[in-house]
Amino acid sequence: MSVTAVYPGTFDPVTYGHLDVIQRAAARFDAVIVACLRNVSKAPVFELEERVELLQSVTADLSNVTVEVFEGLLVDFCRDRGVRLIVKGLRAVSDFEYELQMAQMNSRLGDVETLFLTTSPVYSFLSSSLVKEVARFGGDVSDFVPPIVAEHLSRRLST
Ligand code: PNS
Repeated sequence: MSVTAVYPGTFDPVTYGHLDVIQRAAARFDAVIVACLRNVSKAPVFELEERVELLQSVTADLSNVTVEVFEGLLVDFCRDRGVRLIVKGLRAVSDFEYELQMAQMNSRLGDVETLFLTTSPVYSFLSSSLVKEVARFGGDVSDFVPPIVAEHLSRRLST
């Protein structure tokens, strides 16, 4: 039986922490759909098209990974594609409470299981918000995001 997992997020922008989870999921499942949330409420720095373009670019070498957009409930997105597995990354205990709540809500709303991959300790401190803050004040983000993302960050945050 082939297993597809959905890895959801805002990806504003994608970081090496996200990429680590995507690569490890891609090595363990037949297919991985990276589901990028349209999310107007969070007012992302990057437009949806740019977030998707960056995700596609940094996952281009992973043949079983695709990038899709979603809005509304994640469980509806999963159901429409016949996917019953959500993958999330857990960086620290502080992530756990909210992630547990979401996993339980999603399991209650739809026929989906959430599987947590513990983030590599190298990236446990990393978040898109912190990367944007570092970039905004001219800090070096090359250890945190792929080069193409760093380029887009410097272009976007310097304007
Ligand atoms: O990268 P993020 O912003 O932490 O990702 C959060 C995301 C997209 C996984 C979460 O907000 C989500 O699944 N939103 C879709 C709406 C939904 O299904 N909500 C109910 C989940 S409890």
